[in-house]
Amino acid sequence: MTNLKTIVNPTTQSRLKEVDFESLPFGKIFSDHMFVIDYADGKWQQGYIMPYGDMPLSPATSALHYGQAIFEGMKCNRDIKSGDVLVFRPEQNALRFNISAARMGMPSIPVDIYLQGLYDLISTDRDWIPTREGYALYMRPFMFATDPMIGVRPSDTYRFMIITCPVGPYYAQPLKVLVADKYVRAFPGGTGSSKAAGNYAASMYPTVLAKKAGYDQVLWTDGMTHEYLEEIGTMNVFFVINNKAYTPSLDGTILNGITRDSIIQLLRHKGVEVIEKHINIHEIFEAHQNGTLQEAFGAGTAATITNISAIGYKDQHIELPPITNKLLSAELKANMNAIKCGAESDIFNWLVRI
Ligand SMILES: Cc1ncc(COP(=O)(O)O)c(C=O)c1O
Repeated sequence: MTNLKTIVNPTTQSRLKEVDFESLPFGKIFSDHMFVIDYADGKWQQGYIMPYGDMPLSPATSALHYGQAIFEGMKCNRDIKSGDVLVFRPEQNALRFNISAARMGMPSIPVDIYLQGLYDLISTDRDWIPTREGYALYMRPFMFATDPMIGVRPSDTYRFMIITCPVGPYYAQPLKVLVADKYVRAFPGGTGSSKAAGNYAASMYPTVLAKKAGYDQVLWTDGMTHEYLEEIGTMNVFFVINNKAYTPSLDGTILNGITRDSIIQLLRHKGVEVIEKHINIHEIFEAHQNGTLQEAFGAGTAATITNISAIGYKDQHIELPPITNKLLSAELKANMNAIKCGAESDIFNWLVRI
């Protein structure tokens, strides 16, 4: 039986006063504590909250060599009226974490351990939650293989941890994206729909090349034809054409984004038709040419909603219509931000109040 009672060893030296909450870079400032629980002898052990800091690891730590490592990304905010902490759809992340774990041959973590650790950590570091609009406490649960052993096989031991950081916006500007025509992020039967660390490792070199070519991110495509659009770095992608929203269908090669799902629910609630399908890059260029492509945007926890200002593909380059606050994406972003901090009612029951 797993002990759900977290042991809290609080820090004696909070760093909170050193932080400038008016200007927070993304992912560089970590709150005072972290949650740690180990898996050994076929079960999860005692969970701890301890001061955030370095930890000793064997140079042979299996995850460092063979990449058995997965993670999640989540956010919480303060309710602007009551000051309560509002966590956005945490159970969805816990469930997706276990989908990733299964694909990587790692043990699942009971959802109640995941959530208890998360809520205890948030409660311990609740003063780290920024209140500025568009800011949040970003939460990073992750798990990695800890067997100190060289040899390709699933580890017998694992560590699950949660660290958190107060964050501002992930992208300051709209994105220029380059459609992948050579490299591939995921393929059928691969790990594309898992939040596996290796997926991100594989995306880095093509992203460096895209940046050298004057773009910000790669818009990934299928590995066979390089014509069907998949997703961007850390976001799912949406296009608005003729007042209808289009997004690539979930076929196992892209992440089942929780923001994607939330946006789809919001759009349908607003009466906007949402079409999940295979989207060919040529359809997008055609829609641009005939004037029906109204907007394109990425959607993800870290970046929330980020407009796309230009798309490149081979020798073609299109600039999208100017970004104004009349766009559907602007309205969706405002809705999402307002729901997350209690300014708009939580009609979909997305929030957990702690
Ligand atoms: C590859 C990828 N696609 C999509 C997303 C968006 O998913 P979510 O909305 O659950 O954050 C993310 C971020 O988690 C991601 O890393």
